[in-house]
Amino acid sequence: MSENSEIGNGFIPSGQLQFGVFFQGVNSGTIWKSQDSGSQTDFETFRTLAQTAERGLFAAFFLGEGLRLREHLGRPHTLDVAGRPDAQTMLAALAAVTTKIGLVATQNTTYNDPAHLAHRLSSLDLLSAGRAAWNVVTTDNAWTGANFRRGGYLDHEDRYTHAEAFVETAKRIWDSWDDDAIADSETAAAWQTPGSVRRVLHDGQHYRVDYTPRLPRSSQYRPVLFQAGDSPEGRDFAARQADVIFSAHPAYDDALTFRRDIVARAVKAGRGANDVQIMPASEFILAATAGEAQEKKAWVRSLQIGPQQALAYLEQFWGRELSSYDPDGPLPEIDPVVAETSETRGSGFHGAKARQLADQWRAEAKDKGLSIRQFVTGKTNRVDATFTGSYTDVADTLARYARTGAVDGFNISPWLVPTGLDDIVNHLVPALQERGVYPTEYAGTTLREHLGLPVPQRSPETIADDGEIRLELAVHQQQL
Ligand SMILES: Cc1cc2nc3c(=O)[nH]c(=O)nc-3n(C[C@H](O)[C@H](O)[C@H](O)COP(=O)(O)O)c2cc1C
Repeated sequence: MSENSEIGNGFIPSGQLQFGVFFQGVNSGTIWKSQDSGSQTDFETFRTLAQTAERGLFAAFFLGEGLRLREHLGRPHTLDVAGRPDAQTMLAALAAVTTKIGLVATQNTTYNDPAHLAHRLSSLDLLSAGRAAWNVVTTDNAWTGANFRRGGYLDHEDRYTHAEAFVETAKRIWDSWDDDAIADSETAAAWQTPGSVRRVLHDGQHYRVDYTPRLPRSSQYRPVLFQAGDSPEGRDFAARQADVIFSAHPAYDDALTFRRDIVARAVKAGRGANDVQIMPASEFILAATAGEAQEKKAWVRSLQIGPQQALAYLEQFWGRELSSYDPDGPLPEIDPVVAETSETRGSGFHGAKARQLADQWRAEAKDKGLSIRQFVTGKTNRVDATFTGSYTDVADTLARYARTGAVDGFNISPWLVPTGLDDIVNHLVPALQERGVYPTEYAGTTLREHLGLPVPQRSPETIADDGEIRLELAVHQQQL
């Protein structure tokens, strides 16, 4: 493979793609009114999905995290598919029924503590024999924070400063045991090689930690780090700390632009152009022919956006109940009750200008002759994130991403559980393998090996005379 000059900075496409499955748990996209819908909470659902993904040589099984149930008009949003057991508990159970697939827990830096989370992730990493990863997120709003004793304690602009102190502390905890810390012979004088386990002392703006880590390294050294968060601060944080970004940029041109941006940020941060991999969120609706795939998409969308979902979507912006309106009729003539939208809390619709938006939408729907349901179906159609088509056409499309290095893979949300991955594993994966852009076997046994990630360097540290690791405060903390 040679350099992709379109991306620059010496970036070399790997020519390969990896798949992950993103099990959201709380969402409006998973169909649950089909006769094939399974439970969102039964272990069997998770087991089937993870084992199907493993059959398709997926690198990773991701669990998202939502720290509070979404609310709609001040009440829990009953139309959401909801229910997600604790990620690390679930992944530990999945570790026992899978052998190769990586196990990724989305975990928040705002409401956890580094020593505690690092230990739990180490535990998952050890018991899965080097398959654990952490998807670092910083969701910090006061509404989420109200769930916790620290409700709303962190200024939004500090979320990544705080996250970086967290991640660096965790990395140092994972670095604190030497490789040969545990005696491997029954004739050894002690179970632990003297001096091979160090205390971690950290005294920074966000954390004061005096901790003796309780676990050795795993076979992949330490958990792989994913990051999800798209602000400029989030991107810089990922460029410094992450192995892989779980991005929101799946459309081809957008993916290339994002890659260019991340490569530039990584190089500026002193890392290599290829050091940060990118896997965007995506959805696949596939069939044997393009026509059948379009029909399937119409069916999927009709179940995702039923009459109630269509009205609830508008209610977010109108800030009032609209249940008396006909979902197959025109958009409500009545105006929103608020100037700014009353969002479905936990979703992304922050601060839309509701009146302005209502006028605009009414005009648009009238112009195109769309009913409420048709209009909402169009608005919620994730055009950029959805790959719809025949197995071979979509395989050709993805092969282009691999060739140019626009992405390193895709993190796929199934629209139906637990069977929504079957088409991908049975048909798309073989088509990609034929094109030479998808693995034909797992590269090794650890997630780090599947992704082709190097063994990490030890964190910069100063080892004091007494053998303790004294953490250097990160530069960004000193600047504050
Ligand atoms: C594709 C994608 C998926 C995400 N999934 C989750 C999730 O499951 N749980 C969560 O708390 N945050 C999730 N986030 C991250 C939050 O959006 C992020 O931490 C927050 O928005 C603050 O970061 P930002 O301002 O850089 O976007 C996700 C982000 C992206 C881009």
